[in-house]
Amino acid sequence: MQSTDGRRPGVVVVLGTGGTIAGSADSAARHVAYQAGVLGADDLVAAVPALQRRPLEAETLARLDSCDMDHATWVALAARAAHHLARPEVAGVVVTHGTDTLEETAYFLHRTVAAARPLVLTAAMRPATALSPDGPQNLFDAVTLAREPGVHGVLAVLGGVVHAGCSLRKLHGYRVDAFGSGDAGPVALLEDGRVRLLRAWPDAPLHPVVTASADGLRDATGWPVVDIVTSHAGARGAVIDALVAAGARGIVIAGTGNGSVHAELRAAAARAVAAGVPVWRASRCPLGGVIVGADGGGPDALPSAGELTPVQARIELLLDLLAAG
Ligand code: SIN
Repeated sequence: MQSTDGRRPGVVVVLGTGGTIAGSADSAARHVAYQAGVLGADDLVAAVPALQRRPLEAETLARLDSCDMDHATWVALAARAAHHLARPEVAGVVVTHGTDTLEETAYFLHRTVAAARPLVLTAAMRPATALSPDGPQNLFDAVTLAREPGVHGVLAVLGGVVHAGCSLRKLHGYRVDAFGSGDAGPVALLEDGRVRLLRAWPDAPLHPVVTASADGLRDATGWPVVDIVTSHAGARGAVIDALVAAGARGIVIAGTGNGSVHAELRAAAARAVAAGVPVWRASRCPLGGVIVGADGGGPDALPSAGELTPVQARIELLLDLLAAG
């Protein structure tokens, strides 16, 4: 069924979590120095005249600078998104978020929320008080995408480009055009309020921790600690030893190139694995991931995170550890 304007009928729920899109600066010229997460979701909706005739609900879940994102907020956000997506009168859910950890939240939601209808994240690089903020257009595009017939899965829309939640990555620290989809490329474009599909909407294979138990992710208290260590010239194995001593239950190494790891870290990783702490290797390169087997494996080869970025691999290992109990 379609609405009279050709869109998916129903309400779009906007869940606010903070970020620059909700940020405020003391001068319209400031794009980098400002306070993130000041405005609520209803303020963001109210700032877009074109959204005033749309059936929308706005709910503020958090007012975080997303560099401070935490697992408790992820659990609350996933639960709230799932709740609204299950309401028959809801067309889709939009999440407003900071850009700094948007890719992590997108990947977490991709693996934990069954999104038979669109779950669309959006953000902004410029605060709401900027002379030319990018947030209002991004929010408008996100709502448009959430009402588009046939769309499903966890998506992100920024600058008119639609990314799969599992492919999103932040590539630039301050430019408006800051995001990419890695080697996968974008899923669609938003052109003048119309969606141009470039490839299939992403499927959402949920992590087994979600499908195995309804209680799987209800509370982040006591979640296993999974840390990331970067491999670099002069890397010290003592970092991994210290993390294990401090209670890390899993470690992801952001390796060089195709996931290669400094000998000092390899030795420390072997000690961690012997102590029961799994260690995965990803690549610190922005593109390419780790091609399994391309390094010939070897007796001390650590499990590879494949195409996952280090921050995505950290989430995947965390979910695996939760599933293992
Ligand atoms: C944040 O991630 O909350 C601040 C930076 C941004 O949204 O661009």
